Amino acid sequence: MDHMARIEALMADMTLAEKLGQLTMTAAGSTVTGPVIAGDSSDAIRAGTIGSLLNLFDARQAHELQRLAVEESRLGIPLLLGFDVIHGHRTLFPVPLAEAALFDPEAWALTARASAIEAAADGIAMAFAPMLDVARDPRWGRSAEGPGEDPWLGAQIARAKVLGIQGSDLSHPQSLAAVAKHYVAYGPVTAGREYASVDISERSVLEVHLPPFAAAVAAGVAAIMPAFTDLNGIPMTAHVGLLRDVLRGQYHFDGVIVSDYNAIAELMRHGVAANLAEAATLALKAGVDIDMMANAYRLGLPQALDAGAVTMAEIDQAVRRVLLLKLRLGLFEQPYRRGARADSAAARAARRQLARGIGARAIVLLKNEHAALPLPDSIATLAVVGPLADAPSEMGGPWSLAGTPDTHVSVLAGLRAALPGTQLLYAPGVDIQSQQTGGIAQALALCAQAQAVILCLGEAAAMSGEAASRAHLDLPGQQRAFAEALIERARQMGRPLIAVLFSGRPLAVPWLVEQADAVLAAWFLGSEAGNAIADVLCGLVSPSGRTPVTWPRSSGQIPIFFGQRPGGRPLQASDHYTSRYLDESNAPLFAFGHGLSYGRFTLSNLRVTPLRVQLADTIEVRIDVANVGARTAQETVFLFTHDPLASVARPLLELRGFGRIELQPGETGTVTQYVPASQLRFLGQDLEPVFEPGEVEILVGPCADRAQLLRQSIQLQVEVDDAGTGR
Ligand code: BGC
Repeated sequence: MDHMARIEALMADMTLAEKLGQLTMTAAGSTVTGPVIAGDSSDAIRAGTIGSLLNLFDARQAHELQRLAVEESRLGIPLLLGFDVIHGHRTLFPVPLAEAALFDPEAWALTARASAIEAAADGIAMAFAPMLDVARDPRWGRSAEGPGEDPWLGAQIARAKVLGIQGSDLSHPQSLAAVAKHYVAYGPVTAGREYASVDISERSVLEVHLPPFAAAVAAGVAAIMPAFTDLNGIPMTAHVGLLRDVLRGQYHFDGVIVSDYNAIAELMRHGVAANLAEAATLALKAGVDIDMMANAYRLGLPQALDAGAVTMAEIDQAVRRVLLLKLRLGLFEQPYRRGARADSAAARAARRQLARGIGARAIVLLKNEHAALPLPDSIATLAVVGPLADAPSEMGGPWSLAGTPDTHVSVLAGLRAALPGTQLLYAPGVDIQSQQTGGIAQALALCAQAQAVILCLGEAAAMSGEAASRAHLDLPGQQRAFAEALIERARQMGRPLIAVLFSGRPLAVPWLVEQADAVLAAWFLGSEAGNAIADVLCGLVSPSGRTPVTWPRSSGQIPIFFGQRPGGRPLQASDHYTSRYLDESNAPLFAFGHGLSYGRFTLSNLRVTPLRVQLADTIEVRIDVANVGARTAQETVFLFTHDPLASVARPLLELRGFGRIELQPGETGTVTQYVPASQLRFLGQDLEPVFEPGEVEILVGPCADRAQLLRQSIQLQVEVDDAGTGR
């Protein structure tokens, strides 16, 4: 029987309670990710009134609950188990923002695949990932979970992650259904404050926030999760325009829409539903199929149905989608297919190796002066200090629910393994967050004995992720006082000081960048963090990560991003009445794309063809890259465009591509990139796409700092169509 026939046969036999059960997802207990804790679900599973579970990651328990559904419920419909597989599962990879720094779609897909394999081995069939919210406000803790500031980059990540999580066949025992979240525009929460209201233009929604989701749908994503937030007054969980009209209508998304945790009930808090029945009605009408944790569908929809607020056909439509997903996942044929085989030790070890390699590549070397890095092979004594130097449990970062913190590698442990002949002197100095300063003197004293100082500082893992907004983007606790005292002491003693900065967001620490000899952004790199960091510090790996967000020098500059429009009075140093702060520079601490390596690169000979471009053309962009440094290293080259004169003011830079090349000292190579001219369309004044004739600049270089970009103008030419619009 084909899927549709099977679904119709089942539906004919289902009671209303069983149908609503299929639309209900409840927490099963191993971990907690929200405020509502559900009780034991066994009876409800037997009764067929719960169809999906979340927060369980244990194959044995999963199979036991699955058995209740398949063998003891009347219709035997299998359960769907979802989990937050955000950046790895048992093995943790770098947090998504850090992984974005690789600018490597193959790597993004690879870690997603490895994570899916581990989660599937725990009986999980759905990953609440990838998180695709474009974030230009690092105060928002969830920036750590997403692709950074750029929509085009977000779209590339979306595609890679969906393919990695889902594999080529959703029914494969190691494939999971991906859930693109949080649809849409959760990133611009007011003042960067978690769960706050969002009020932005329709243009910004269309140009900045939707593209990653469009890419996820085009890649075949199985499910979408609406954001907790409201957009201009309409909560996303009830947003007919964006869920039904755009997602289902324009993008032809026919997968499952699963609400966020308790989000349907929160429609009452938003002030758009008076009671659970109204909340359920709004969500169902907008197209939400699964109610996660609110119990709104089970309790509210029967009333709504009686009152004529919803129809049985609307409920049936949602049930069909859920059953279809379960069929596509192969759950009907083999409900126990995921979690049937134990993970082998060799496979686990290989994933740790992968985590180490990806971790090293996610590190962004922000500064490196006085040849501070890599550390000399011969180093006899090294001070490794700071509250994050020996903090294995912090290394996983936020959303490490199934991780095993006791197996995470700290910086101290990584360096110990990498430098067996070196004496390592360790002292934490201060805590991450407390105000105590009693340990500072002991840490300062180590400077005298060591040849170099590695200072590990930053945020705690729990300071980013969900419900982790920060108003101050400096170091918490007494870390700044400690770092400044240590830097001063190291300078007096003539010791190089290397700062390793842990965070789920760019921290505004210009003072640290100014004073330390070298600074590494180590984000949260996961299980193998310490080994990955040691690989870079010791020069086994030349750093190659590039920041996927513009790095502010102060919180007052936020939101700061390279895609700003020029405005009518762009900054001119000589003119007071131009766009500026009285008390801060406009420039970021580091531009988007910044990141050093142990090589040194020069770019030259930008070639663009054709120079006269029509809509159907593909533009070829080539640039020569030479490694003029002394070590083999990788360079990433970014391709931007700028439309200087258009019917709507265009951003100063728009990202259109990136390419990587590895070169030995003295070697030169060419990076070639292709841009379909159709990408140079933009939304006109009526928000419809238009391809306007005239000049467009192609800008290529190592980061989004205009001064470092090579430039070539092309001319767009339009063949006017019958309607004379040029569209
Ligand atoms: C988060 C989601 C997550 C869900 C399930 C919510 O609080 O916003 O991103 O997938 O919980 O844990």
